[in-house]
Amino acid sequence: MTIKKTITIGANTTHPLTVNRLGYGTMQLPGEHVWGEPTNRTEALQILRTASESGINFLDTADYYGEDVTNRLIAEALYPYAEDLVICTKVGAKRGKDKSWQVYDRPENLRTSIENNLRTLKKDRIQLVHFRVMPGTDTPFEESVHAMFEMQKEGKILHVGLSNVNAEELNTVLGMGDVASVENAFGYAQRTSFNLYGQEVRGLQEVMDICVKHSIPMIPFFSLQSSLSESRNKISVIAAKYKTTPAQINLAWLLHVNPLILPIPGTSKLKHFKENSQALHLELSAGDMEFLG
Ligand SMILES: NC(=O)c1ccc[n+]([C@@H]2O[C@H](COP(=O)([O-])OP(=O)(O)OC[C@H]3O[C@@H](n4cnc5c(N)ncnc54)[C@H](OP(=O)(O)O)[C@@H]3O)[C@@H](O)[C@H]2O)c1
Repeated sequence: MTIKKTITIGANTTHPLTVNRLGYGTMQLPGEHVWGEPTNRTEALQILRTASESGINFLDTADYYGEDVTNRLIAEALYPYAEDLVICTKVGAKRGKDKSWQVYDRPENLRTSIENNLRTLKKDRIQLVHFRVMPGTDTPFEESVHAMFEMQKEGKILHVGLSNVNAEELNTVLGMGDVASVENAFGYAQRTSFNLYGQEVRGLQEVMDICVKHSIPMIPFFSLQSSLSESRNKISVIAAKYKTTPAQINLAWLLHVNPLILPIPGTSKLKHFKENSQALHLELSAGDMEFLG
């Protein structure tokens, strides 16, 4: 099966952004528990530079990775940025001093986070920002989303996306403005979506159906960590057939399952990064996809 090698974010808007269909998620770069400097800083910078050299032009980050660690690494490795590089960040959370993940989604919090992302990424405007719904929030959903669209009007954000949303939330936002992308947990062995707290985000299939109807790219996270240990049997058979690795077949499956999927595998290892980036060149047959199920 021939797969689409690029994907357009904001396809129905006046500022469409076309990127290669395999991105890179930076969350594995900081130290343990996504906190502090990388164990191997040189390797972290090398991964980002290799991404750029090999045509991977979609990076996923957050100012709460580190904190600020991945944003600073991106700027150090790649600033001044190539024109076609899309850096996507997310807001709605922050880290406590104890490294806990905390809700940070009041309109004024979102504004603080955007300013912080702009400063640490050395940008005047961020091309894509996901509002990440956090469990335990007491901020009305629409209030947070409204703040995102306000910052879009002010020019701080080019495209607004959503993360960890269910179908009802996605439909609500579609009634308020354009949704450029949806970032939810999804992988070969994780067909329903769970947030960081193990709570199910209801109706993933419904979310996907809405995305397809509106041509909204879907950015899956935890695709490898949810699936590498769970997908050995059938994935290994196909990996052996193509003399590749299970990680590559997991990613190839995502790329074949729906042309709107933009995988962002994360890794702290240059070797794994190079291995993962080859997945875009793997063509699975219709029979392989049927076998994988
Ligand atoms: N919106 C949200 O709420 C949200 C939440 C979580 C994450 N994210 C984003 O999604 C991205 C992807 O999630 P993730 O970082 O958890 O990545 P992932 O793609 O699910 O998996 C990362 C894990 O897989 C391992 N790995 C990667 N490539 C491998 C390979 N070729 N062979 C063997 N092991 C491999 C990594 O270990 P090594 O480091 O040893 O390679 C790491 O343990 C994140 O980086 C982040 O940008 C978004």
